[in-house]
Amino acid sequence: MQLLDGRALSKKIEEKITQDVKDLKSTCGCTPGLAVVLVGQDPASSAYVNMKKKACDRAGFYSITHDMPETISQEAIEKTIAMLNNDTNVDGILIQLPLPKHIDTTKLLELVAPEKDVDGFHPYNVGRLTTGLDGFAPCTPLGVMELLKEYKVDVKGKNCVVVGASNIVGKPMAALLLNADATVEVCHVFTDDLKKHTLNADIVLVGVGIINLITEDMVKDDVVIIDIGVSRTKEGKLVGDVDFENVSKKSSFITPSPGGVGPMTIAMLLSNTLKASKINAKKLAQEREA
Ligand code: GUN
Repeated sequence: MQLLDGRALSKKIEEKITQDVKDLKSTCGCTPGLAVVLVGQDPASSAYVNMKKKACDRAGFYSITHDMPETISQEAIEKTIAMLNNDTNVDGILIQLPLPKHIDTTKLLELVAPEKDVDGFHPYNVGRLTTGLDGFAPCTPLGVMELLKEYKVDVKGKNCVVVGASNIVGKPMAALLLNADATVEVCHVFTDDLKKHTLNADIVLVGVGIINLITEDMVKDDVVIIDIGVSRTKEGKLVGDVDFENVSKKSSFITPSPGGVGPMTIAMLLSNTLKASKINAKKLAQEREA
């Protein structure tokens, strides 16, 4: 069994991005910028946003967080997004999810300029991803693909079972795998007999937030396990969706959780923001020339 070490790989990617940022600053005077919209006081969302901000600082990005109260109106968030769309210091806009119930999340995600949509949640980028065109893909599944690539886990022709069909993880994960020529099945809350599906998988990718959902009897020998789930036990310990202790014994590769996919999500956010920055810098230069 080999661990897929997301902490180590994310560090390597961050170092490369930090150097790229230095080069970008010296060649065009540009600094990649990320704006985060955070609504309410959810501790997990606040913690994630904090980690994203620290990563931006380490890489030399400009970053700004728009902290809004739980009771903020839809209109006020819409105005903030419009302002960020027009702010040339901001290359990427991230709306931390989930949002309070009175907010129309779909509408907000559609208001983000597609060229600043570093989360890859705008339907324009979702469409580009599913048709295999270049664009912005969501950070968590993108991080999983990088991790698999780093450890030379070839997905071509492999049976991949994605457990969870969210817009943030499951669906884009399936699209990325399909684009890489994998055979993909997506299981979800209404799937009958999950074990029947996972037993057939060369690679299981699970991100639903249910502790110990995947147990050793549900996977075949030498399976590759990607654990995207993060939950807190009653004792306050962070764990994934996989019974790591027992499933790891049957696996060829497995991600720890935490320390696997989580750090990769942040590295991919930096990568997408740098990509947006390069595109936006080029566009601005062309506009100046015209
Ligand atoms: N909430 C949970 N995961 C994510 C993510 O990747 N991006 C955003 N914006 N919100 C999230």
